[in-house]
This record gives sequence, C-alpha cells and structure tokens, in this order.
Amino acid sequence: MKKIYLDQASTSFPKAPGTAEAVYHYLRDSAVNVNRGAYDDAYSVEEQIFETREQLRRLFHFSSGKGRNVIFTANVTASLNILLKGILKPGDHVLVTSMEHNAVMRPLVQLEAKGVTFDRIPCRSDGSLLLHKAEELLRPETRLLVCLHGSNVCGTLMPVQEIGNFCQKHGLLFILDSAQTAGVFPIDMEALHIDALAFTGHKGLRGPQGIGGFLIRDALAKETVPLLSGGTGSISHTEEVPAFLPDRFEPGTPNIPGILGLHASLTYLEQNPPENILRHEMELTDYFIRGIQNIDPSGTRLRLIGKKGIEGRCAVVSVQTPGIDMARAAFELDSEYGVMTRVGLHCAPNAHKTLGTYPEGTIRFSFGPENTKEELDKALQALSRITEGREEEKSHGI
Ligand code: ALA
Repeated sequence: MKKIYLDQASTSFPKAPGTAEAVYHYLRDSAVNVNRGAYDDAYSVEEQIFETREQLRRLFHFSSGKGRNVIFTANVTASLNILLKGILKPGDHVLVTSMEHNAVMRPLVQLEAKGVTFDRIPCRSDGSLLLHKAEELLRPETRLLVCLHGSNVCGTLMPVQEIGNFCQKHGLLFILDSAQTAGVFPIDMEALHIDALAFTGHKGLRGPQGIGGFLIRDALAKETVPLLSGGTGSISHTEEVPAFLPDRFEPGTPNIPGILGLHASLTYLEQNPPENILRHEMELTDYFIRGIQNIDPSGTRLRLIGKKGIEGRCAVVSVQTPGIDMARAAFELDSEYGVMTRVGLHCAPNAHKTLGTYPEGTIRFSFGPENTKEELDKALQALSRITEGREEEKSHGI
C-alpha cells in the first residue's frame, strides 16, 4: 500500500532537494566545529553558517537587522522559552490569543509562578481573532503580545498586520511564532513591526528537525537575559556571558548538521518562490474542504472545524467524525488506507476549547508542496468509507 503523508503541520516531508545530502556530506567529509578550530575547514563551515543567517534575514525581510541578529536554537519551542523567560519580569503582563500552542502557553504558565500575568484575546469559534477585544485587556504593565501566525489545529491565520499595528500603537513588544507559516506565507518583520520572530527549520522551510531559531532586534536582545550560558569560542578570557550577538544566545556547540541542512533547504526555497508553494497548498486545501463538504453537507458524520473556505487560513484542516471514535478513525485511515494524519489535541488545548472540540479533539490533515489532488482523493474516499453508516456507532457503545 502506497502511504500518503498528510501530517505536514507536524513536520514536512519530503524535505527540500539537497537537504539530506548537505547533512550527509558534512558528517562524512568534514564534521568540524565552528568558532573553535584554527584551520581552513572550520572557517569554511563558519562561512556557510553565516550565509544561512543571511538567508533567514532576507527571507523574513529583516532589513534593519544583521546576520548576527539571527540566533539558532533547536526549534520554535526553545526560541519562545529563551525569549519569554529572558524578557519577562515579575509584574509584567502579556497578551496572547485563545488559539495558542503549548510552546507559548507552558512557558507563560511557568512564568505565572514568578509574578507574570497574561490574558487571552478571544477568538471566534472558527479561530479568527477578535482583536478589538484586546483594547479592554490592556493594562499599564502590559509588556508584550506573543501569538502564533497560523493555527496548528485548524489552519486559521491571525491578522498579523493589524496585530503589529496594535502593538506599535500601544508600545508593546510583538513576538510572532511562525511555526506553521514560515517558508509558505510572506513574513516581513519590518512591515509587521515584529520585535522577535521565532521559526523552526523542519516545517515549511523543509529542513531537518532540531534546528530553528529567532530573529531579534538589537534593543530587545540587549535587555533579554540569556536562559543558557557557557562556552562560545569567543572572549574566552572572561567568565562573563558575551554581550554581542549571536554569541549571547548561542553557548555550546551548535547543531551544525542541522544548520547546513537548513542552508540547503533555504537555497532551494530561494530558487523556488514561496508564492508557487502557497498557491499549490491553497488549491489543495480548497479541494479537500470541498471534498469534506460533498461527502456530508449536513456535517453529521463528518464535521469540518474552523473556517469553511480558504480565506484566512493555511494548509491545515481539522475534522471530527461524530459517529466513530477519532483515534480509531485515524488508526483505520493509516492501517487500511495508508493515510497519515495527527489526531487529538495537537498540544493546543485552549485552541480546541475555542473551536468547541475539547476534550475529544480532531483528526488533522495538513498539506505540503509535494502532496497531490490524487492523494487527497484517496484520503477523502477513505474518510467517506470509514464514516459511512457509522453515525450511530458511538451511541450504541461500539
Ligand atoms: N506543533 C506540531 C504539530 O502541531 C508538532 O503537530
């Protein structure tokens, strides 16, 4: 049975051409460290890492920043932890949306114990933000707004331009989690007034897992206390943490295979404009949503969650199967039809509360540049067969 991978929101597959080769060549041919060795190979790796920072700076239109303002971490979660825990102080107040992933919420809940407070800007039941409600939540001590760009549960996009304008108007820092959108949707740090942008390499950027980072403005970097400290290969005569970037936030040997893999995937992305990827993913999303609605226009056996069209969403679609346990439906999708999805709460419990799908969750389908309509037809057929005639199953306790 040919497998159909529709879990792109979790991690993309296949990776961009050249990515695996770059990781392999580095590990096989010259797996040297950076910032430490006094030999040519080390300098050459250093140059490639520097070029990767520049690629990211260009991708996110960070024209006022330099390559050094691009910090490598393991992923968005690590970036958000470094930023939130390094910036926020007791007494600070934070705004988030009601659709956040635990990558935002868990650090904030930890920080609550240290006297940081937060409020959630409400969203409609399709995940769209009620930004006008944010005004009422503002306090004199509100310091920043942090939110995701695209929901990993239902694909709803946040109005990032309006949010950026709101932050600028009220003097708030703006931190954006681009986990579901980087590499597909344009993100312009300057136009959106973003102070720090958290990204991951293994989703829309189509690089390896375990490499991500953040782009940060100089002024904010200065006041952010580093979460980690250690050797950087620079100013080794002192035991103080370096004040300069990127060393301030990059102690220890970095994930060099990951960075070089990301370098290759970003090079591919530069040669294959994201506009084409976005168009393709939106066509697939539209096709799939219509397919769901065709199978069951009433929504009694197959319920589409979130927005009913493609406007204001990314290529993530969630459904519920009211007549059959969703874990079982997802298991059947994979075991009988080869369709790989993610089921449950997707590390975003409050997003599900907003969407009315808590605590049971949803089955999530997410699409990438190499998925095809033929694959979606097979997934839709599978969903149709699995849910057919089973509307009553749960009520009979089967
Ligand atoms: N946050 C990723 C997902 O939604 C891992 O699957």
